[in-house]
This record gives sequence, structure tokens and C-alpha cells, in this order.
Amino acid sequence: MTNTLLINKDNKIKESYYKRVNFINIKDIDNQDTKIEKETYEQFLKLQKFLQEKDIIIGIDSAYRSEQRQLELYNEFIEKYGQEYADKIVAPVGTSEHHTGLAIDLALKSNNEYLDADMVHQEQEPIYQEIHKHLKDFGFILRYPEGKESITGYPYEPWHIRYVGEFVAKIIYENNYTLEEYLQDFSGVILVNKEKDMTSFDVVNEISHLFGIKRVGHTGTLDPLAEGVLLVAIGKATKIVELLTATYKEYIAEVKLGIKTDTLDITGKTIDTKDIPNLNNLEEVINSFKKTYLQEVPIYSAVKVNGKKLYEYARNNEKVELPKKIVTIKEIELLDKTKDTFKFKTLVSKGCYIRSLINDIGNELNTYATMTSLIRTKQGKVSIEETNALSDIKNNKFKLYKIDEVLELESINVSDELAQKIRTGQKINNEFNIQDKVIFKDKNNFILGIYESKNGFLTVWKNFV
Ligand code: DAL
Ligand code: ZN
Repeated sequence: MTNTLLINKDNKIKESYYKRVNFINIKDIDNQDTKIEKETYEQFLKLQKFLQEKDIIIGIDSAYRSEQRQLELYNEFIEKYGQEYADKIVAPVGTSEHHTGLAIDLALKSNNEYLDADMVHQEQEPIYQEIHKHLKDFGFILRYPEGKESITGYPYEPWHIRYVGEFVAKIIYENNYTLEEYLQDFSGVILVNKEKDMTSFDVVNEISHLFGIKRVGHTGTLDPLAEGVLLVAIGKATKIVELLTATYKEYIAEVKLGIKTDTLDITGKTIDTKDIPNLNNLEEVINSFKKTYLQEVPIYSAVKVNGKKLYEYARNNEKVELPKKIVTIKEIELLDKTKDTFKFKTLVSKGCYIRSLINDIGNELNTYATMTSLIRTKQGKVSIEETNALSDIKNNKFKLYKIDEVLELESINVSDELAQKIRTGQKINNEFNIQDKVIFKDKNNFILGIYESKNGFLTVWKNFV
């Protein structure tokens, strides 16, 4: 999360930061030795070259500053401009972004002379505006934009740029965010089309790394063998993970008959084989699974028994009684068959394991059945057509869905008066006749929270403000 590290008046730099970051030595515009984070410098050089072609010459006035240097600067400013101005413009020691080596104060060259931050005047503003437009393409943001003083803590500084990486810089630029707003407000659900051979956890890690945001969670594991819809919640939207996990999911699965593996899918070790009878009754057997039944959890799963995961019992060859869970197969349809394989589509409740369902179908057919492929085509409201591959997402091709766009819940825009009550989590009358849960938004579609019906009232389930 280095690129999105937030350093401001409320967030001091920590000593441990310097252990994980690569600094290099460079010279500033006055030919003085200084330091900067390596990638930041590489990207700065690209920006510098790009601007040079537009006849804009930039140099580095200030990059890394030690705490000692920040203190000197503060004292210099007091001397030059007085205490009040120094306090307004110079970050207190330990809270300057310059301590990170990710920030640069630019100097503009004009008439063969560099104008440092101190000498910036209104006449350079058009040049700075031109520079600001291109920062994102090199992974930089304007850290202290005009009109955001109450959020960043500093007045407009056209010269101070901060490296956050191209991916995040684009989002910040397009949404007119500050880094503070991005880290606090950027939240929602990304619809990922998981590819084979990745775990759901790998996807979460990649997204978290890409966005530079720690709070990321998925909403229903897909095994490495499986592909398709994986909803990934970011930021505040992680509060609704359990609701998204609870939705019905649609799958298309392929099956091989006559073999049994330890994991119930083709990635496992074959442990037995059996003849395959003729499959005249296949459709009938499949249709008979449209029911609610007690399904045995597969041993190769992360479900815990006595505090230990089932697959750990399997690995250690320990005996364990497999738990059973009630699942509902709401729809099931045979799509294709050969002598020893078949393909089907199904819509199932939370907690249903498709490989267990296939195993159960095999038993009914008097043979073994093993899952060979699995695609999740729907989760609740979301279909696979709406998802993006990770490779797309890495190129900023994604949509961030608001929670009311992915949840199958009613959402209501409320009056200012009611919005105020909801913001403070007060219990309200159930004048809307809500049976279960409801999403409340203010007049501007800003999500306030989710309420649930309880004893004739609506009480807060999750607050979003
Ligand atoms: N002028 C910026 C806020 C600093 O001192 O880091
Ligand atoms: Zn600065």
C-alpha cells in the first residue's frame, strides 16, 4: 500500500516505512544532493520529457525531506513570512509528504532560471494547469488542489505533486478526489470474471494491491478450477459482503462419469472407478434434484469442525464426520450429454457445493460423477456478461457498482429530516412496510445505511456514513 500511503496532519510517517521503500540519490535544481523514491523518480523523468516537448521545463525543487530539514524549513518560513503563514503552509515535522520520497515540489524554468515554489505567481498558473492535466498519465496527482483545504489541511499548492501510481492517479483525477477522499469514500463492488487457476483470495489480493486499499473482500469463494462471477467489495461496501454471499447463484458445470476423486473434482486424486450405466434416465435424475435437501459438505473444504478446517483432517488422514447443510436447488437443467459426460445448469442457494451436488447425482445414477469444469454465470442480480477480467480491470476498465445496484433490496430516497435520523442510527417507524431489509439514500442518492424490520420498527443494520 506504499503508493497510497496517507501522510497528513492526522497521519504521521512511521519509522518502519523506510525499511520497505527504495530510495535513490539525485540532485535538485540547485545541484544539491537529495533523495527520492525510485519509481517516483523514474516516472518524474518521463513526465519531464513529455512536458519538454511542450516547451515546459520542470525540475525538482524538493523531493525527500528529513524531519530535520522540515524543521529548518519551518523555521525559515517563520523568519521570512511569520508564524501564521508558516503554520498554514509548512507541514508539522513528521507529517510532511516529503518524508515519504513520493512527493515532489516542482520548479518551472523560465528565462533560464528555475522558479521554485516560493516564487510562483499567478502568471505561471496556466502552465501549471497544463502540467496538472497530464500528471495522471505518469502516476502523479495534484496533492493540494484548490478548494479542498478543509480536507487536505493545506491551501492550493500547484507545485506539489505526489506519486500514487497510474491506476489510482486516473481514478483520483476522474473523480476529482483528494487522496483523503479516495481512501475514505471510494467504495463499491467490482464485478470480476475470475479466471481458472486463481484462488478467490488471489483475486482479492490483486484488487487490494491495485487500488491501494486494504478493505477488500469477496462474496463467495470460487475454487481455482472454477471461473466466472466473483463480486469483490471495496472500502465501506465490505459491510455488505454477508448479504451478497447469501444470494442465489447460477452455475454451468461439466461432469465426468465413472470416476471418483478425493476432492470430488478433476483436480483431485482418483480413488475409485465404476462402470457407467446407460444414461436414459439422466434427465429425470437431474430434474429430481430440484429440491431442498441435506447436503454433505465435501472434505476438501474450509468448513470448520471442532475449530479445524475439514481439508486439514483430510491432509492428516484423520477421521471426521462430515457436517450436512440444508441447500435448495431452485432450478436445474440438463444441457448436454455423451456416454460418459454431461453438462448442466443450476440455480442454488448459499452454501451449496456443486461438486457435492454432482457426487449426489452420481450416486442416484449408480456410478461415480466428478466435476470437470464450473462457471458461475450469475450471483443474485449480477450476470457474467457484466463482469470484467482482471486484465481489463488493471487497465482501468471496470465499473464500480453502488451497493444498491448489486443487492436485491428495495432502496428508498428519504427526506432530509429522515436522513438526519438515519445518519445518527435512530430507530424509525416502518411507514414503508418493509418486511426484511431496506437501503436508505438521501435526496442525492448518497447511501446512508441499511435498515431492517424489527418488532414493527426499522432499526439500523449497517451504517454507511
Ligand atoms: N507544504 C507541504 C504541505 C509540506 O510542507 O509538506
Ligand atoms: Zn511540497
